[in-house]
Amino acid sequence: MNQSSKSVLIVGGGGREHALGWKIAQSNLVESVYYAPGNAGTVNNVPIQPCEFDRLSAFARSKNCFTIVGPEAPISTGIVDYFSARDLRIFGPSSGAAKIETSKSFAKDILRSNGIPTPEFSSFTDHQKAKDYVLKQSQDLVIKADGIAGGKGVIVCGSHEEAINAIEEIMVKRIFGEAGDRIVIEERIRGREVSLIALSDGDNIKAFPTCRDYKNIADGDIGPNTGGMGSFSPVPYVSRDLQREILHNIIDRTVSAMKSKSVPFTGFLYAGLMIDNKGKASALEFNARMGDPECQSLMVRMDSDLIEYLSFAEAGKLDDLPPMRWKEQTSVCVVMAARGYPSEYRKGQVIHGLKNTYPKEINIFHSGTTHDSVGRIATNGGRVLSVTALAQKLGEARQRVYEVVDEITWGENGQYFRKDIGTYST
Ligand code: GLY
Repeated sequence: MNQSSKSVLIVGGGGREHALGWKIAQSNLVESVYYAPGNAGTVNNVPIQPCEFDRLSAFARSKNCFTIVGPEAPISTGIVDYFSARDLRIFGPSSGAAKIETSKSFAKDILRSNGIPTPEFSSFTDHQKAKDYVLKQSQDLVIKADGIAGGKGVIVCGSHEEAINAIEEIMVKRIFGEAGDRIVIEERIRGREVSLIALSDGDNIKAFPTCRDYKNIADGDIGPNTGGMGSFSPVPYVSRDLQREILHNIIDRTVSAMKSKSVPFTGFLYAGLMIDNKGKASALEFNARMGDPECQSLMVRMDSDLIEYLSFAEAGKLDDLPPMRWKEQTSVCVVMAARGYPSEYRKGQVIHGLKNTYPKEINIFHSGTTHDSVGRIATNGGRVLSVTALAQKLGEARQRVYEVVDEITWGENGQYFRKDIGTYST
């Protein structure tokens, strides 16, 4: 890392940010890791919210920090542009490059115009034209609000009626506000999902291993979408050859396309992919950030020094580094949420069963946690804890993670988690 900054500021307070900071704090290149705002699992918390750019930048300057951004809100509203304009070191994409996440039609246009595999689609700003289009389609469709809708803007439809309903909700009732002023209607393809995340310096990439997350609230991938209820890595149904093909055909080509559109992408580029039953991968969407809870499963497997890679990526020199090194083991991460999430849920419930230390194959990353008035750890959000286990085999990691999850409780059965994390259809 650039010798001038031995301090790192992590922006955000979720499990992803806790896992990034946990990994970065192990580096010999780093003396201090601060979190803004962090949570009850992190230390050196600074009470500044992720979109308070003026206060964050003043703090980063006072401590000479290299800043790493977790969530999408500060990225999409321009934290990287703000810091860069003030000569502060920060890792992440500009708000222009973040359009790959904040506008689904922008992302789909990049994919289509560069021949990158992605399901067929059309985009609309007029709800009547969108409905007319739906009635002419014979395959199942996915209706997507163009903008950011808190992870809820993608509606998978099994009939014309469902698709028309989704258009009505998004474009006429405007349930996602202006995020639904434009929609993308996409052909639904079936298969198995995988997330592939890479670091990009605007030109070159270094890939993380494959990972799978579980977006629905309930076992069997049913119920409303959430931020993510669990993850595991690596994904057995993606061979090394298929992974190479995805990196070359989808991620590398997207990075080149962004550069040639004069919005070079520097940051974590997250491709949400579907592998169809013929083993072909297509890009469903991109995120301009690390995944949560993918990050938790990835960080516990990483042997390389993350901050070194982030520094080289920020400096546009990723090609000077070898590929990142990873433990051969499998990790499984189970998210423990407050019962009721992603709708109404209680906060302020004291968490029982957390130990001060765990064996090295177990990690607990916090998200919605805080200290109550007498210093006990209490719930403070929908997703509360990410319990992560590493083992030689997926089945063992699953068993270990659930042994630990079963020891943690709050309220009267106030904790909720999926029981099928680490399983997948064959
Ligand atoms: N796990 C999905 C996301 O980070 O958006």
